[in-house]
Amino acid sequence: MGQKRIVVLISGSGSNLQAIIDACESGQINGKVVAVLSNKPFVKGLERAKKHNIPAITLQHGDYSSRESFDNALANSLVGFNADLIVLAGFMRILSPDFVNQFQGKMLNIHPSLLPKYPGLHTHQRALDNGDLIHGASIHFVTAELDGGPIVIQAQVNVESNDSVDTLAHKVAQKEWIIYPMVVSWFCDERLTLLGDQVYFDKTIIKTQGISYESLDSNAKPII
Ligand code: GRF
Repeated sequence: MGQKRIVVLISGSGSNLQAIIDACESGQINGKVVAVLSNKPFVKGLERAKKHNIPAITLQHGDYSSRESFDNALANSLVGFNADLIVLAGFMRILSPDFVNQFQGKMLNIHPSLLPKYPGLHTHQRALDNGDLIHGASIHFVTAELDGGPIVIQAQVNVESNDSVDTLAHKVAQKEWIIYPMVVSWFCDERLTLLGDQVYFDKTIIKTQGISYESLDSNAKPII
């Protein structure tokens, strides 16, 4: 099986991007990040890409007259890079349904909450405000519904009484840096498929909340 061509979309720091680049370079992922696209200029994620000689491209939505024309430019770029997989990693932009449908089954997102809890912004603050004892991150296939696509995996963190938004965000990020490369590697190994609104791992249906990271065995084999 040949290496998959991965394009990562970012808007900021790109720490998840870094984890994925590192996993490609170490061989954990049978794939290559062929481009990094940001809708914001000068962000740290673009610098990270350049350090690894990966084309780092800024497409500023402000330069386009409408959401559709920006999405068209983005889609053309992804097609131009011949992307097998599109990874949204801190990409802070809602994509139009036409765009999402064009790449359905090939586009993943990571979200800092245990979906379906807390779609949208300020997830750590909302978990703290609600007195949640458990919080975490989810990776899902992207569909037209914001943060609503079929979930692949969730990883949990305990919320301690002295946690702040910053400490919680850091704990969640540490889990993200583990699960995103793992899921990308499954996709590149063709173990992960979206059929309709159902995710399959090795041809077995994954339950609605996704695979639980905590239930993986020592070989990182999901118990479904
Ligand atoms: C992550 O917390 C991710 O869950 C959310 O945005 C953040 C991205 O961080 N979608 P980074 O740019 O990967 O450092």
